[in-house]
Amino acid sequence: MAIKAELFASSFMVFILITCTNAMDSQVYIVTVDGTPAIHKFPRSAESPRAFPSSTRSEMLAYTSELVARHDDLLSSTFTSSSYRKLYSYSHVLNGFAVKLRPKQADDLRNSQGVRHVEADWRLKKLTTHTPDFLGLPTGAWPRDGGPSNAGENVVIGIIDTGIDPTHPSFSARGPVPYPPLANFHGKCETSAGSSVPLCNGKIIAAQHFAAAAQAAGAFNASNDLASPVDEDGHGSHTASIAAGNHGVFVNSDGFYFGEASGMAPRARISVYKALYRHFGGFMSDVVAAIDQATKDGVDVLSLSVGPSSPPSSTRFAYLSAFDVALLSAVKAGVFVAQAAGNGGPYPRTMASFSPWIMSVAAGLDDRNYSNWIYLGNGARLAGLGLAPATPGEQMYDLVLAEDAAVANNSGFSFSPSNCQQPEVLNKAFVQGKILMCTYSFSFLYGGATVRKVADTAKSLSAVGFVLFVTRELPGNKFNPIPLGMPGVVITDVQDSTSLLNYYNSSSAGSAARAKIGNGMSPTYEGTGPQVAIYSSRGPGVKDYTLRDSDVLKPNILGPGSLIWGAWTPSSMDEPDFQGQRFAMISGTSMATPHIAGVAALIKQAHPDWSPGAIASAMMTTASVADKNGKQLLAQHYSSTGSIILNPATPFDIGGGAINPSAALDPGLVFKAGIEYEDYIGFLCSIAQMDQTQVLNVTGSSCTKSKSAADLNSPSITISNLVAHRIITRTVTNVAAAIETYKVSYVEPEGIAMQVSPSLFTIQGGQSVTLSVTLKVAAPITGEYSFGSMLLSGDKGHAVRIPLAVRAGAG
Ligand SMILES: *[C@@H]1O[C@H](CO)[C@@H](O)[C@H](O)[C@H]1NC(C)=O
Ligand SMILES: *[C@@H]1O[C@H](CO)[C@@H](O)[C@H](O)[C@H]1NC(C)=O
Ligand SMILES: *[C@@H]1O[C@H](CO)[C@@H](O)[C@H](O)[C@H]1NC(C)=O
Ligand SMILES: *[C@@H]1O[C@H](CO)[C@@H](O)[C@H](O)[C@H]1NC(C)=O
Ligand SMILES: *[C@@H]1O[C@H](CO)[C@@H](O)[C@H](O)[C@H]1NC(C)=O
Repeated sequence: MAIKAELFASSFMVFILITCTNAMDSQVYIVTVDGTPAIHKFPRSAESPRAFPSSTRSEMLAYTSELVARHDDLLSSTFTSSSYRKLYSYSHVLNGFAVKLRPKQADDLRNSQGVRHVEADWRLKKLTTHTPDFLGLPTGAWPRDGGPSNAGENVVIGIIDTGIDPTHPSFSARGPVPYPPLANFHGKCETSAGSSVPLCNGKIIAAQHFAAAAQAAGAFNASNDLASPVDEDGHGSHTASIAAGNHGVFVNSDGFYFGEASGMAPRARISVYKALYRHFGGFMSDVVAAIDQATKDGVDVLSLSVGPSSPPSSTRFAYLSAFDVALLSAVKAGVFVAQAAGNGGPYPRTMASFSPWIMSVAAGLDDRNYSNWIYLGNGARLAGLGLAPATPGEQMYDLVLAEDAAVANNSGFSFSPSNCQQPEVLNKAFVQGKILMCTYSFSFLYGGATVRKVADTAKSLSAVGFVLFVTRELPGNKFNPIPLGMPGVVITDVQDSTSLLNYYNSSSAGSAARAKIGNGMSPTYEGTGPQVAIYSSRGPGVKDYTLRDSDVLKPNILGPGSLIWGAWTPSSMDEPDFQGQRFAMISGTSMATPHIAGVAALIKQAHPDWSPGAIASAMMTTASVADKNGKQLLAQHYSSTGSIILNPATPFDIGGGAINPSAALDPGLVFKAGIEYEDYIGFLCSIAQMDQTQVLNVTGSSCTKSKSAADLNSPSITISNLVAHRIITRTVTNVAAAIETYKVSYVEPEGIAMQVSPSLFTIQGGQSVTLSVTLKVAAPITGEYSFGSMLLSGDKGHAVRIPLAVRAGAG
């Protein structure tokens, strides 16, 4: 066999050279094989994933070594050793491996005995957005349940991201109470090459990196990307600090103080799985390796600020990609999984997260605003943005337009003097002691000009401050209130910019134009948050790459995601305005997700025996559908002219609603399936056009029952095609200690008649009651979804709400 292959190689040399960039190109495949993955063979209680006797653990390790040996045998008996490269064996959440080989070999594998499924690898991306809305508001309340020194104690949050900056104060283990070793947690700690800083310290309890697929695909560049868990990007440190960063860390940027930061669960441990990289994001087979490891290690919660740009086409249904199937096994092992919804909003069907076992997190704006003013000598006051201190004292300072301070010969510079990007192009004598006026032009959008360089220029010319103004509408451009590093203000309104220039022009003849800049360091609270951020992906959830609607509610919950302060890596090149800084304020469903992971850790701490489904239910049924003024929560959309408008938020914007951490700790009732995993398999088996052998092939579990998505015992009801009528059942379990009587009320989706029985019930602690919900088409079919809700109000104060999304159809 081997000799024959060599002969072919020499006689077809030319052929191979010509075609090596297409059909013959090796690529990475994820292969699943016969045999049960370890978490199925050695089931853990979904209620306490780490409570696992050590004798069972050693049996499990022996079993997984055997699986790995079988993977190696299969490959070596099918191919010559030089024709493939195995990157990973997966043995906990999947039984299979990632391997680099040629498409022809992938076909050979598909036809091999014992091979169940072969899926080409695909790319995932970090879900941070670079164009958040400038009215966005940094994050607000940090829950303090149990006190920050205790919140999250003994809970481990796994972060699959770009790694971590172990030297950051958000992750220091110093503090009054040392972190003791954690029983039954088995995470490993890699050492970082060439660094003496230990990566793990008790707070960071494990740290590993996964890059084999990125390297095999040629995307990993050793001069930019670190082959260690150390974060060269900033994204992973940021998300980790949101979930579990230390409490009371001073946020300092450019020498200015912006308050104190705290993770949602500041006492939780962080287990780092680096599988994403600065330039290219990541590859599914690296991320699956991270999920496999995290589940094996025994994390309680997984935070995934990562997803595909569109539903994968590699499997017929998005639920069956190796990524989603690996997460299903993790959930079976008791791990709560939060994943970013995606940043494809505000358009429908843009979700990057699909399956009912995953908590998909939408991003909201909070109600904090950093506004500022420049006061002119003529008494006018112009509004602007910028986190910056005031000009010193009460007095006004002369204004000077950058053009008027330009050096005589300013050819040969890459930026116009008006952009204030280079001090050499301006005359220091004209600028010092004054407020420098600079123009925001297209160079800031496309030419590499930054607000930070304006501040640097003003500083090095000894100006007392600067004003950066926009002279023309820049459709689609958003401004963030970024830290300016010195007195400064960004005027984003063209009209206000004209007023400023008119004042400057009219005054320059005799007396100089003068101004002072106000203090922009303190936020103002508008009382209007939260709102759904424009970029946050919207439902309905989809089941495949042709974007067919699913009956799974997506997204599931809204968390704060816009302009969030978090830990940053000074060396990161990703955000020009935060280069060199240890904190950055960035936006995305990436930032919303670790908020939810952190709250999940608080719930797990308070209720160690709650399954992932119970935790998800507690969050969704207690979430808020009102803003801070008690008005209906609103979602940002685009108007036909491209400006931002606000519409009432629907379950396709917010799922259950905006997270309310303290209510989620005491939900009263939860919707949980008795045996969640079997229900999820039943759900897969019930999907129309699903090949049941494929469910077996990718999950290892066969179809024994059928459970349609609408019939999963989830805290929502979604029906994309209601024909005539349907009866849906839901079972609630009283997780409060005391007996309570609940009254059922509901809001019918428009055009749908609804009935719920019983309408009143009394339920003992620990007991369950089944509700039957009848939905009936009661109006002509419009083809549109309509939305409603069901509310269970307890006489001890619990309020349990689930959303309904229903579309009537003809069948
Ligand atoms: C790797 O990064 C370096 C530095 O940015 C760059 O010069 C080089 O071209 C990159 N290599 C590849 C293969 O992209
Ligand atoms: C935030 O402040 C700016 C500048 O003062 C103002 O124009 C804007 O309306 C404020 N945002 C909100 C949401 O009120
Ligand atoms: C202006 O500066 C450019 C580049 O610095 C130089 O090449 C040119 O000779 C200068 N012109 C004059 C008139 O000094
Ligand atoms: C200010 O004066 C300059 C030239 O002196 C002119 O180009 C500009 O249009 C004037 N701006 C306004 C707003 O009047
Ligand atoms: C599942 O695997 C079996 C056995 O390898 C194969 O016959 C069947 O076609 C596979 N099903 C799918 C949908 O790939």
